Amino acid sequence: DWNSESVIETQVAAIRAQVGRGRVICGLSGGVDSAVAAAIVHKAVGDQLVCVFVDHGLLRQDERRQVEEDYVKATGIRLVTVDVREQFLNALAGVSDPETKRKIIGREFIRTFEQAERDLMAEAAADGEPIKFLVQGTLYPDVVESGGGTGTANIKSHHNVGGLPEDLQFELVEPLRALFKDEVRAIGRELGLPHEIVGRQPFPGPGLGIRIVGEITQERLDLLREADAIVRHELTAAGLDDEIWQCPVVLLADVRSVGVMGDGRTYGHPIVLRPVSSEDAMTADWTRLPYDLLAKISNRITNEVAGVNRVVLDVTSKPPGTIEWE
Ligand code: XMP
Repeated sequence: DWNSESVIETQVAAIRAQVGRGRVICGLSGGVDSAVAAAIVHKAVGDQLVCVFVDHGLLRQDERRQVEEDYVKATGIRLVTVDVREQFLNALAGVSDPETKRKIIGREFIRTFEQAERDLMAEAAADGEPIKFLVQGTLYPDVVESGGGTGTANIKSHHNVGGLPEDLQFELVEPLRALFKDEVRAIGRELGLPHEIVGRQPFPGPGLGIRIVGEITQERLDLLREADAIVRHELTAAGLDDEIWQCPVVLLADVRSVGVMGDGRTYGHPIVLRPVSSEDAMTADWTRLPYDLLAKISNRITNEVAGVNRVVLDVTSKPPGTIEWE
């Protein structure tokens, strides 16, 4: 007989017993797992916890604000935001190969997080309590997957925000290790976290960087962010958030096609919609969205997003397609 209140109580007690008076650090990704994990730890040990949020410029519209304002307001958590948008753009300049992008993003992310840690450790050491613990939003399926040894082929190098190199001397705090995603959401709601965060669909660590097919530039990121925000808004307005697993929106930055607007010719980029239904992201099917909704999304994107003159729908299951395009 599962109830979120008693899970929270049990975890709060366990965390207090584990960390004592020690300091704790947590990387927030904007996603539900790290947000809920940090909120439980904060409930247990208050300001012994400090959270780090890295803005690498590959986030979706409004994500940073939701973490910095809504989430902090709901929890009272102490948050440090590191703005490395320019550093990431520079590191990614001229790169279009998907795996190279993933490696660069992973490397820069770890570098950034380690620097933030060093800064916070120096600060903590100065007032006598070193940071000894690191919070991770590991869920039960992650535990099974990494310990199962089923030898799944490595299709893409996954990068998890908050994933850290092994040489770091932290003891892990993992309050969600026994839980499934829907249970984590229930706990998030119980803790009063913002709806936008608790209900958020999966979003990959490398963010919009792997949804631009081609080189990543500021202009392309801004364009994709705009299109993505329209799609998310319309899916939510149509009440379809629970029906779809996630809906990547992809910019084909190296493709152009001819279009017409008013009495002029356009030569713009296509946007791909990739709505999928899935249980666990290992397999997926493309979601049969209502035609009227697709029409509305297409009209809005082509009218509102400068540089886009075509919207296409990905009708591939996984396998053979993966959910993300890169
Ligand atoms: P694919 O594209 O492999 O995606 O079918 C499966 C699920 O994983 C997400 N994804 C990632 N999540 N770091 C993450 O945390 C990553 O590097 C990453 N790559 C893909 C993807 O959004 C989908 O939910």
